[in-house]
Amino acid sequence: MAIVFDEALKTGNELIDTQHQELIARVNKLTEGCKPGTEKTVAANTLGFLLDYTNKHFADEEKLQEDNQYPLLDAHKAQHAAFVKQVEELEEMLVEEEGPSEAFVEAVKKNVVDWLLNHICVWDKQVAQFVKA
Ligand SMILES: [Fe+2]
Repeated sequence: MAIVFDEALKTGNELIDTQHQELIARVNKLTEGCKPGTEKTVAANTLGFLLDYTNKHFADEEKLQEDNQYPLLDAHKAQHAAFVKQVEELEEMLVEEEGPSEAFVEAVKKNVVDWLLNHICVWDKQVAQFVKA
């Protein structure tokens, strides 16, 4: 199911929120492109498309934290790195399969969609609050 960028997902930081909208649009493309039966190349392309923007967004978000001497920067960076690794693992999973399997779709939901929603609500909201204060 598509993620809707609503009030509950807003951190209150303009840069973060603007980039999250693009990130979520790309996650939605991924979930659309990863239904069982979809061609492998479509799924692979949406994963690559997501990873491209993820790298940019994480770099910008980490710079914002650095510039503001955010005390949890290292822990936050570790969260980001874990996510990138999960997406890379999904890419590997896809290489070994004919196309997006049910297990793959399940992994996308857990490791991308659910992870991102939780990360925004817990980690990124804390950053926005700190930067504002
Ligand atoms: Fe983050």
